[in-house]
Amino acid sequence: MTQAVLDRPTGQERSFVRVQEIIQECGASESALIPILQRIQDEYRYLPEEILSYVATVLDISPATVCGVATFYAQFSLVPKGKHVVRVCDGTACHVRDNRALIESVRKRLKITGKQITSDDNMYTLEIVNCIGACALAPAVVVDEQVHGQMTGEKILKLFNQIDAKDKEAEK
Ligand code: FES
Repeated sequence: MTQAVLDRPTGQERSFVRVQEIIQECGASESALIPILQRIQDEYRYLPEEILSYVATVLDISPATVCGVATFYAQFSLVPKGKHVVRVCDGTACHVRDNRALIESVRKRLKITGKQITSDDNMYTLEIVNCIGACALAPAVVVDEQVHGQMTGEKILKLFNQIDAKDKEAEK
């Protein structure tokens, strides 16, 4: 069945065409599970539950195994993320350099409250993370995998404006 699913999507599998391509490119075996999940997350910005079940079926492994890997690694998310992911470091060096003010600026700018981490327009997700290894640049922030050091509330607002302007430009 595994090969048939890969070769000829039918019925419900049709909606998983992109996932099939990813599995084929990474190799349809359990040993390729992590790269497969990484690629799926790149594609969808998170790991949708129905896709995890589908991956388990195609790889012929239990859904619990797939779920276990998806929840074990911090890089994976089971909830949708915004288009841009902003990681504010909360390690010691950043903490003592007032990253709290930075976090507040970000939350205010994105209008996120309480336990919310993704802006209502799904453009940004804020994550508070442990040391990102750039302590000399504290307080540090990673935006879409790019490190920005010596951040201030003012600087990060400028960065958001630049990202928004780029997005608008790309839409034209
Ligand atoms: S504590 Fe923030 S980069 Fe190390």
